[in-house]
Amino acid sequence: MTSMRWAVLGTGQIARTFHAALDGVPGMHVQAVASSDPGRARSFADQHGISEAGHYDDVLGAVDAVYVATVHTTHADLAVRALRAGRPVLVEKPLALDAASTDRVLAAAESAGLPVVEAYKYRFTPFAEALHAAIRSGGIGAVRGLRAGFGFTAPTRTGRLFDPALAGGAVYDVGGYPASLAVAVARWSGVPLDALRVAEADGSLVRRTGLDKRTTATLTADGFTARIEAAITRTLSRSVVIEGEDGSIHAEDGWGSRGVSARAVEIRRGSQVERVEVPVVDAFAAEAQALVDPAAAGRTEADAMPWQDSRTTARLLDAWRSALGGTSR
Ligand SMILES: NC(=O)c1ccc[n+]([C@@H]2O[C@H](COP(=O)([O-])OP(=O)(O)OC[C@H]3O[C@@H](n4cnc5c(N)ncnc54)[C@H](OP(=O)(O)O)[C@@H]3O)[C@@H](O)[C@H]2O)c1
Repeated sequence: MTSMRWAVLGTGQIARTFHAALDGVPGMHVQAVASSDPGRARSFADQHGISEAGHYDDVLGAVDAVYVATVHTTHADLAVRALRAGRPVLVEKPLALDAASTDRVLAAAESAGLPVVEAYKYRFTPFAEALHAAIRSGGIGAVRGLRAGFGFTAPTRTGRLFDPALAGGAVYDVGGYPASLAVAVARWSGVPLDALRVAEADGSLVRRTGLDKRTTATLTADGFTARIEAAITRTLSRSVVIEGEDGSIHAEDGWGSRGVSARAVEIRRGSQVERVEVPVVDAFAAEAQALVDPAAAGRTEADAMPWQDSRTTARLLDAWRSALGGTSR
């Protein structure tokens, strides 16, 4: 079997995590690493035993697939450059800073006839399949909504997370997790994604910069309500609850830890509780596979993260940030 050769764009912590995840995955390896500073790429390559290093455009010709692992502000441009160079691309979340730039990336993928996948990594795991199966089984009846949040306490108040110029803030960094889950659950439940709206949003902003640090939002559509929350200054519950007419689906941890996917869901109907143990996978290896599969099949979208979900999530994040009135890019 020929190995899928990856280029990782960026030399930060998530570039390291992705490289470690692919190490040992049959049929994949990191062939090249790239940086805005080629010297930094070379030292990353030497440290991790990667053969090629350079500036972003230098490495695109030597690989079969690209992973964009840079700060949020550079995702869209790097994705478009990779697509124009003829490479499928897996892009760290958020795919782009707003709905218009998301459309620009998807248009570039469409015209290249190549896949682009937004890397909300929980989407590509057996856990997400278990949520979908639980809804599809009809056991909880018609889905009415969900509650989910993603929040952590950043160790310092500096760096990209707190820098408006690098599109920091809770919505950009982690709000997309519960928002994109609401989009998935809406789609699985037959709720038209175009109808999803931000009905209300609230939050606290960093006084000096206007950056959102902790925030809630209510998304609604056609009898469906999602209450979602995001924070970079407070650790929030990682639970996910999907509510139906006849019962509910609970997961104590909807997101898993850095590489390891979430491991269980419970389906509750009255006093009955059915616990479903879910196989645990490395979510970074799973998201890499989610790009490789459509690329190999000549398709442009990953089944688990269709473009319409990226578009809808981007539109909702735009509306969420606007409703907060904080710093927007
Ligand atoms: N999936 C997950 O579990 C997960 C977890 C954490 C983060 N993430 C996502 O992964 C991405 C990278 O996060 P990270 O924590 O790895 O970030 P990071 O370490 O702060 O930076 C990543 C890279 O961005 C580039 N960069 C840094 N500062 C920059 C600046 N001022 N201007 C332009 N480029 C700059 C650098 O790449 P160069 O060497 O090329 O300059 C750096 O290596 C983000 O999209 C984040 O949301 C995902």
